[in-house]
Amino acid sequence: MDSAKIRSEFLDFFSSHGHKILPSASLLPESPNLLFTNAGMNQFVPYFLGSQEPIDRRVADVQTCIRAGGKHNDLDDVGFDTYHHTFFEMLGNWSFGDYFKKEAIELAWELLTKVWKFPKNRLYATVYHPNDGEPAEFDQESFDIWSEIFASEQLDPEVHIKKCSRKDNFWMMGDTGPCGPCSEIHMDLTESGDTNGNIVNAGSCMCLEIWNLVFIQYNANSDGSFKKLAQKHVDTGMGLERVVGIMATTNNFSDFSRQPSNYDSDLFSYIFAELERLSGLKYAGTISVSRSFMSDTEKVDFYFRAIADHIRTLTFGIADGILPGNEGRNYVLRRILRRAVLFGKKMGLPSGFFAKLSEVVIEKMGKIFGQLIDNKAVIYDTLVREEISFDRTLGRGIRVLEKICSSNKSGMISGEDVFLLYDTYGFPIDLTKLMAEERGLGIDMEAAEQEMDRQRQRARSSQKKVSLAVASVDKEKISFVGYSLDKNKKFFAEVVGIVDDKTGNFVILDSTPFFAEMGGEVGDTGSLCLDGRSIEVLATIRNESNLVLHRLPKNVGLKLGDRVECVVDMERRKSIQRNHTATHLLHFALRDVLGDHVKQAGSLVDSTKLRFDFNHFSPLSDEQIHDIEYIVTRCILENLPVKCETMPFAEKPDNCIAFFGEKYGKIVRVVTIGCISCELCGGCHAASTGEIGFFKILSESAISAGVRRIEAVSGFAAFSFVEKVIGDLKNISKKLSCSIDKVFENFTHMIEHSACMESQLKMLKNSKNEAVANALVNNCSLKNDLKFILDVIDVENIADLKSIALLLSKKLSDGFWFVLCGKMPDRSGAVLISCSRKALANGIKANLMLKKLSEKIDIKGGGNEELAMGGVKQSSLFSERLETLKNL
Ligand code: SER
Repeated sequence: MDSAKIRSEFLDFFSSHGHKILPSASLLPESPNLLFTNAGMNQFVPYFLGSQEPIDRRVADVQTCIRAGGKHNDLDDVGFDTYHHTFFEMLGNWSFGDYFKKEAIELAWELLTKVWKFPKNRLYATVYHPNDGEPAEFDQESFDIWSEIFASEQLDPEVHIKKCSRKDNFWMMGDTGPCGPCSEIHMDLTESGDTNGNIVNAGSCMCLEIWNLVFIQYNANSDGSFKKLAQKHVDTGMGLERVVGIMATTNNFSDFSRQPSNYDSDLFSYIFAELERLSGLKYAGTISVSRSFMSDTEKVDFYFRAIADHIRTLTFGIADGILPGNEGRNYVLRRILRRAVLFGKKMGLPSGFFAKLSEVVIEKMGKIFGQLIDNKAVIYDTLVREEISFDRTLGRGIRVLEKICSSNKSGMISGEDVFLLYDTYGFPIDLTKLMAEERGLGIDMEAAEQEMDRQRQRARSSQKKVSLAVASVDKEKISFVGYSLDKNKKFFAEVVGIVDDKTGNFVILDSTPFFAEMGGEVGDTGSLCLDGRSIEVLATIRNESNLVLHRLPKNVGLKLGDRVECVVDMERRKSIQRNHTATHLLHFALRDVLGDHVKQAGSLVDSTKLRFDFNHFSPLSDEQIHDIEYIVTRCILENLPVKCETMPFAEKPDNCIAFFGEKYGKIVRVVTIGCISCELCGGCHAASTGEIGFFKILSESAISAGVRRIEAVSGFAAFSFVEKVIGDLKNISKKLSCSIDKVFENFTHMIEHSACMESQLKMLKNSKNEAVANALVNNCSLKNDLKFILDVIDVENIADLKSIALLLSKKLSDGFWFVLCGKMPDRSGAVLISCSRKALANGIKANLMLKKLSEKIDIKGGGNEELAMGGVKQSSLFSERLETLKNL
């Protein structure tokens, strides 16, 4: 049975048992603590937690997953073994408060043994049995259900059921979130099939877990505790690659003589075929027992598997909008890509092979996952660019790595060197590890991690959060009341905290209209007024525990309990708001023009401009920039309302863009513009888009591979920008004595004219130099069988002197030496001495002659035996000392 059949039979089976069939969710997870969607259940977290009503009580789907980085990380094993993947499809069925253990287990048994005819005697079940101190209790219920099933099949439950502890049988999607004990189904794949369950969970590829039935009953908290959920749920997951792989290797369970491999199935064979075509090598299916000692065939087979796995990960990841980059999940994708490209190089594959492979993946898998077809160009272009940029870093990095390895005496690459390779040469740590292993070295992982930590700390401390401990302030009582400010209304607050130390002078107020710098938006400035005195608020920031700190000048004499009037600089705030709302519009327009892969990678909003960084692989064309500006302008002219609402995270609208990588609290703020843009955002905004007035992009550039930056202005700043440009244009038009609309035409003529003049000038100069050179040649003398010239000539600049010297050496061919003294229009001069080979043979050396000369004339310069040059301040010296020169 091939993969398509297994997929459809799985869904048909659960559909016939009352399950609603859902599409796969994006690989970009909703949950902020996940790097990628790593299990079918991710999209259902709100159902498990009871924060959202399930779409149906029974659901089934085929979910694309990436397991790399984070909790479930198999990258090192991928390719080396035959059953771990970074990308895979997970077949799953769910019950949200509906059926529980009995039906879940019975459904799984029925599909495997009755529909797909898995040999029952080769199947084993595991049930949860905690060690001391582990959560929950022994899963007697599952044990009993399995006992009954095995007994009814005349199989000994004592043999076919294994009790396993938390490590194997308590499933968690991450460090936090819904979780529970599980019961897994394993299959004995040995030739005789008689291991009696002795190799279940023993890390052997001859006995594989094929289906995991999780009984979700708890929510794991970040402090390590588990909270019982209101309802009990079922979450099952079966790796499609394993099921199809087993069927392929065993020829539908008829032949167990071969070692099983997921790569034997139709999910990989077409990639292997393309790799074989591109490389001229053959996949032989060998598997090495050692990572350090692999035969050439084993190495090639390892590369085949790893590349085939990784191209699927990258193709699907990019299609879901996760582009390779330098941070978080984007960096994980880049690491995987670089691993594959490196292996490709070892196989002799040309640059660009990885992008080429994406085409076959899209062709095969696009029939089921339409997002691959929709994003075909983005996938291809991204991969091409990534390969090119990796080629560049790889060459340099390998040279450094070779040097490090060759001078290594400890057998271990130090943490500093690993970090250097990572930070300066773009080598992911696992790549360094791999390349070190190939050279028989290890890497000091612990020290490398410490270096990475230090870098993270440096990055954190460069962010503007101050760590001021303000213990006496009750945080809960402090509120920000400044989202929408009425300039006619006075606002008073009480000073409840004062910090005056070397970091500055700050006050904390019991409530404040001053927005504190956050999420890329700068903080407010303004003043605090007390008894007719106005104290300037220089900045508003947040400390590490999110307290709002108002920075004041030193020694302003405020004390606790003072009641101050808070005056926010409203002109400045309004500019900031305009820029912030314009940033959301820009984000929308970018996605509209470039595609949904565009994701915010950072932003800065202040009163003068906005800056928006986003994932995209190529420079924007003028046309695209025009389209983006046009869309933003349309939105401004439509005067769309901007709505800011707070709500539970789980209730945010489906189309709401969250800034992934941020950890959101339970309550979030949703900013909606008309019906075009919806983002999670804690910043200040215009009340409607009309307030923005005018929007203009100033620049578009790359800030790193795959990340681009747009700088733009809105409101008055945009007006000033355009005014300045038009002002410049007017001045040019005056100088050109034409109207503004003729400036371009006239200017183009002028450039053409000046290019023409320049080439004429060059010709004139060439012929003048030629004439000078000819005259010099005619006057050359013969001394000791060598042609010799010593002369003083007028030149425009050093370049002229050099070109005359060049002409001379051509004309004199060999057996010459000359000293040319050039007089420049600014009265300075230069000396050029040139010696042919024959002159050198006669002991005349240009640099030595220059040195001798400089004893008589003050010359600064140098050179080699054949050519030396120097400058003099006063060229009049040449004529005065010509005789001296001649004598030399
Ligand atoms: N969540 C479980 C897993 O991923 C079952 O779906 O293994």
